[in-house]
Amino acid sequence: MSVQVVDHPLVRHHLTQLRRQETVPAEFRRHVRQLASLLAYEATQDLKERPLRIETPLTSMTGSTVASHIGLVPILRAGLGMVEPILDLLPNAQVWHLGVYRDEATARPVPYYSKLPPGRPVDVALVLDPMLATGGSATSAIEALQAWGVPEVKLLAIIAAQPGIDAVVRSFPGTTIHVCAIDAELNDRKFIVPGLGDAGDRTFNTLESFD
Ligand code: PRP
Repeated sequence: MSVQVVDHPLVRHHLTQLRRQETVPAEFRRHVRQLASLLAYEATQDLKERPLRIETPLTSMTGSTVASHIGLVPILRAGLGMVEPILDLLPNAQVWHLGVYRDEATARPVPYYSKLPPGRPVDVALVLDPMLATGGSATSAIEALQAWGVPEVKLLAIIAAQPGIDAVVRSFPGTTIHVCAIDAELNDRKFIVPGLGDAGDRTFNTLESFD
């Protein structure tokens, strides 16, 4: 198990803009995309490669190509905003959506969509969700991937709260968690503080009020 916080000026820059309450949805989505790319760059450092023989305009040479069978697993809804920039980096990845929402009264995860097929799972699953709060949604997603038989799961979250990290570590000690920042606490409504509000609502412009 390991928790990796991406330590980079660009991450801090974009994350600060993402957190600001005056950041409008179009800008929010753009910062999510940029942070998702930077997280993916870190999280894919150990991907398996195989040699690839190619012709350049001048000669032959041996290059490299990604050998692992990779699945991107966005947790609906907010994880959707992280898919496109990571697919740009990993164009051959499969995308397997998982629907999990957090019950507003109990903060418990409610799974509502999964179409993971029986048969050969991906080698490496990158679970995508901008927020890891209590860890309930991520835990539900990782349970589904383990039941599918995925040998390696990595969780990519833009921000996490320490209680959410602790919950995932307890349940899945073999999962690596990559985050841009760890915030100290959850408030009484289980929102990450200082956090960024609700990533799904801010991404999809469905925010009515935080009151
Ligand atoms: C948010 C967020 C995570 C989850 C984090 O989703 O995107 O999926 O809550 O909380 P947890 O760690 O306590 O489970 P939400 O339930 O608001 O759904 P949405 O993305 O559809 O808005």
